[in-house]
Amino acid sequence: MSSSVEIRKLTTPQELFEAAAEEVGRAANLAVTERGRFSIALSGGSTPRNLYNLLATNARSSLPWDRMFFFWSDERHVPSTDPESNYRMADEAMLSKIPVPAGNVFRVPAENPDAAAAATAYEQTLRKFFTPQSGQLPRFDLILLGMGPDGHTASLFPVTPALRENSRLVVANWVEKLKASRITFTLPAINAANGVAFLVSGADKAPALHAVLESDAPGEQYPAKLVRPIDGKLIWFVDRAAASQLTK
Ligand code: 6PG
Repeated sequence: MSSSVEIRKLTTPQELFEAAAEEVGRAANLAVTERGRFSIALSGGSTPRNLYNLLATNARSSLPWDRMFFFWSDERHVPSTDPESNYRMADEAMLSKIPVPAGNVFRVPAENPDAAAAATAYEQTLRKFFTPQSGQLPRFDLILLGMGPDGHTASLFPVTPALRENSRLVVANWVEKLKASRITFTLPAINAANGVAFLVSGADKAPALHAVLESDAPGEQYPAKLVRPIDGKLIWFVDRAAASQLTK
């Protein structure tokens, strides 16, 4: 069992995206060489869009796209055509521009009016893809995550029920402040990964990043603090603005 935490401080957002793209490429090529395939869970929101654009343009020829398998670490409870959809964002920014077989893309069935049923179906999709040994959890090669100004990650928002889920892999999570359901990986699913990479950019994230990395604030208040891969690598890609309140 070995876990490591690395904080990569980049000066500008562009440098952050370039460093993250390099890590995705490294991890993808290594996984395909070692195991014949690379499983990645994409994060949503606005930050990763630039990374996905970079991967679709600069890395277009250097990645083993046909051996790469795409999932989402969370999804809004909307159809895939909705402007809020994390699938739609990744499809527009990357998937529609690269030679990845349609069968390699596993989106969350978030069009289902029953968010809990969508989460259950997605959990089955994970179990079918990874076919984990009994008692084992699906182990993603890489899970990408963002962090909100409130310290949430995926759709694990402060003081929400999903934070306490310790056996399911995917759940629906009602987020009162958004007055909306989300579908999200749980902490067991995230912490089982071989690698987890946070992308955190912008001054609005600085207070939460300090709280997560340098304070003893409770994880319930700052869920990103609860991401600790059991036997995997955790890398924080942060830019200067987001890191402005870090003391180390
Ligand atoms: C989502 C994301 C969410 C996101 C953070 C940060 O569905 O919105 O998964 O967890 O990563 O809210 O979002 P930004 O990167 O847009 O600031």
